[in-house]
Amino acid sequence: MATGKRSKRFEVLENRPVHKDGFIGEWIDVGLYAMGSPKDPKPSVRIEGDKIVEMDGKRREDFSMIEQFVADYAINVKNAPEAMAKGDLEIARMLVDVNVGRPECIRVMTALTPAKVSRVMENLNIVEIMMAMQKMRARQMPGNQCHVTNVKDHPVLLAADGAEAALRGFIEMETTVAVARYGPFNALALLVGGQTGRRGTLSQDALEEAFELEVGMRGLTSYAETVSVYGTESVFIDGDDTPWSKSFLASAYASRGLKMRFTSGTGSEVQMGAAEGKSMLYLEILCIMITKGAGVQGLQNGSISCIGVPGAVPSGLRAVAAENLVTMCLDLEVASGNDQTFSHSDQRRTARTIPQLFPGTDLIFSGYAAEPNYDNMFAGSNWDIDDMDDFLSIQRDFKVDGGLRPVSEENVIAIRNKAARALQAVFDELGFPPITDEEVDLATYAHGTKDIGDRNIPEDLKAAERLMKEGVTGVDVAKALAKRGFRDVAESIILMMRQRVAGDYLQTSAWIDTDGTVYSAVNDPNTYSGPGTGYKMSDARWEEVKAIPWAVRAEDV
Ligand code: 5AD
Ligand code: CA
Repeated sequence: MATGKRSKRFEVLENRPVHKDGFIGEWIDVGLYAMGSPKDPKPSVRIEGDKIVEMDGKRREDFSMIEQFVADYAINVKNAPEAMAKGDLEIARMLVDVNVGRPECIRVMTALTPAKVSRVMENLNIVEIMMAMQKMRARQMPGNQCHVTNVKDHPVLLAADGAEAALRGFIEMETTVAVARYGPFNALALLVGGQTGRRGTLSQDALEEAFELEVGMRGLTSYAETVSVYGTESVFIDGDDTPWSKSFLASAYASRGLKMRFTSGTGSEVQMGAAEGKSMLYLEILCIMITKGAGVQGLQNGSISCIGVPGAVPSGLRAVAAENLVTMCLDLEVASGNDQTFSHSDQRRTARTIPQLFPGTDLIFSGYAAEPNYDNMFAGSNWDIDDMDDFLSIQRDFKVDGGLRPVSEENVIAIRNKAARALQAVFDELGFPPITDEEVDLATYAHGTKDIGDRNIPEDLKAAERLMKEGVTGVDVAKALAKRGFRDVAESIILMMRQRVAGDYLQTSAWIDTDGTVYSAVNDPNTYSGPGTGYKMSDARWEEVKAIPWAVRAEDV
């Protein structure tokens, strides 16, 4: 039937957005294999005294630095013989069995070798992975993180966007820059915006490490997460790093009272051409175990910036959900991806998010874009501000808590305006280039940078440099705000500075509520053990989730 004539059906399908996505078949040698590659190591362990002398078919003297670190710091050697003796399927069933408690699952999962953890995941289908997530995530209440960036690094717009995002419910927000020298202003704008929108908001400024540590120590940011770890030695060394150097950096943050987590994710080693023929999930399990071994409280994973790679191979998005689950199973906080865009298809974009959204994770998105796509300086996101009403509808459709809330236009306008005015006052008090009333007005009503003017960039950059040179801290910002009538925002910043000393929010999966209470896996542990247990929306929260302003109300008909 080789007529050369095309089927009109196929022509239509080929023009659908999904055909712009990249798809590739499995390719074992370069590591384009989601999970359970024939070349993955086979599980084994041999212990002498309290040392692992053989792991996953390799003798200690042949270990890479990653394997040595994992064997020495990330596996509970005492429990290992018993845990490793269990069958892969038996452990997989424990994870979905509501009659086996989370602590028992943690006890077993933290005593397995990387190859064994991988085998357990291979036995779970996507629904079982979600069932296990519901039980295994560390904190009971799910949460959400966003990005706040813009292409002009416009500080007034950043403050307004930060305030709106905090009002919408994001408990963490991160910014980064278009122009690196704007870094200090971005941190300042997000601090003021975040605390204006919701007291207790955690903020970060994802930039070069030394800078991040310094603005963090100054109290201009409160957490860090872009400390990358990798699953093969060559990729690690390529960045002049080792698991030990990353552990040292982690301690530097934590010892100054800053919340921190590592970042990793499937596909990074493939992208750097150094996967050594292992599956993406196997390499990612090494990263998760490095994080555990470093004593870090949590991990941002779920492929993150490499999502195009697992997104292109069979079972890739299942592997991404599995990597989030492994993080939970090692008793770590997970900020579970859903950040970088990977697909032109709205159906795939939504499907990609369901495994984290429906069971709930500590931070379902580790970067929902709180700005329009054209202002996203982290590269495009899987969801952005223009998708907000779709997200709120889905929360309501399924009675699922995605951490966000419907807001009124009036309240958004008011909070954006307040944040812009607060930043205007701070700039004035600190002698920075003035923020005009017109800029405040434009930022209040803006969708993005297309709706605001340009700043005097050379003057801003000079002032941003001065902010660093003169050692401006969170306390200086709070003083300026208090002096100019923004006492509530000033108090919020002081609250954040006090947390720096108390350190409660260094506990696993911590976030800070508006009254200053820190919730974490310590005082809000996940207690799920079947229907009727675990996280449940309060009545008040359900009323809030239901109340999308655009729904017709029975009483108005
Ligand atoms: N592995 C390791 N680090 C990653 N990042 C993003 N994706 C990964 C990954 N798969 C880090 C990088 C990037 C930041 C957003 O997070 O440092 O700059
Ligand atoms: Ca993030």
